[in-house]
Amino acid sequence: MVDPRLSIVNKRLAMVENIIAVSSGKGGVGKSLIASTLALILSRMGHRVGLLDLDFTSPSTHVILNVEGLRPEEKEGIIPPQVQGMRYMSIIYYTRDEPTPMRGEDMSNALIELFAITRWGDLDFLVIDMPPGIGDATLDMVRLIEKINFLVVTTPSKLAFETVKKLMQLLKDLTMPVIGIIENMKMEESNFIREKAGEHNIPYLGEICFDRQLEASIGDVDKLLRTEFAQNLREIVLNRLRPRP
Ligand SMILES: Nc1ncnc2c1ncn2[C@@H]1O[C@H](COP(=O)(O)OP(=O)(O)OP(=O)(O)O)[C@@H](O)[C@H]1O
Ligand SMILES: [Mg+2]
Repeated sequence: MVDPRLSIVNKRLAMVENIIAVSSGKGGVGKSLIASTLALILSRMGHRVGLLDLDFTSPSTHVILNVEGLRPEEKEGIIPPQVQGMRYMSIIYYTRDEPTPMRGEDMSNALIELFAITRWGDLDFLVIDMPPGIGDATLDMVRLIEKINFLVVTTPSKLAFETVKKLMQLLKDLTMPVIGIIENMKMEESNFIREKAGEHNIPYLGEICFDRQLEASIGDVDKLLRTEFAQNLREIVLNRLRPRP
């Protein structure tokens, strides 16, 4: 059966210049912190930015940004509220703090619904915090969103890369655009990830140090933007992401 929502999804995104899905395959590597901080950095540079939390079962960007008590306006769809100068959308507007267990099919439905109803308007960047794993959300995004670009996050660990390389292979097989790979939580010198990225023909964008101050800055955006973590990410944005609004 044809799903009428599918035809509307890309129309809703017609005025969004760049879509960046922060993904990994592996859990706990820093996707949510990187997606949130990337969105904030781009926004503070003067770009029009949206941030979408697609981790329906464990949303977390609202904790990083300290979002509470907001409800989106409904007007021929849903208009994402402004948070820190960005348009911010998350399932927490509807679930509050309740658990949201979802089967694969429910998840796909919620994802399509969210893209079909959200009015992003004019944006230079839409940054998406993806759930961990190479599951329904990744496949739905590939299938649905014409302008999608993937930004892959790993840690220096061989164990993280073991999963991340499968995501990279999948994206390659599906001929999806990949901006590159970020190595997060770097603690010591090693070229392992840089070399592996080269072998897989994926641009190595740079590294972000393991930052002991990071935890204390969660929920305080100005403090977060002053961390070494944010400074490392800002350098990657300036040198490698080359915003083109
Ligand atoms: N560079 C870093 N230095 C220190 N701690 C970090 C760094 N990056 C992330 N963390 C910490 O690692 C944990 C996981 O980060 P985050 O939730 O952003 O990962 P994730 O990939 O989104 O996880 P999930 O797969 O569960 O969605 C958090 O406690 C975060 O504070
Ligand atoms: Mg996360």
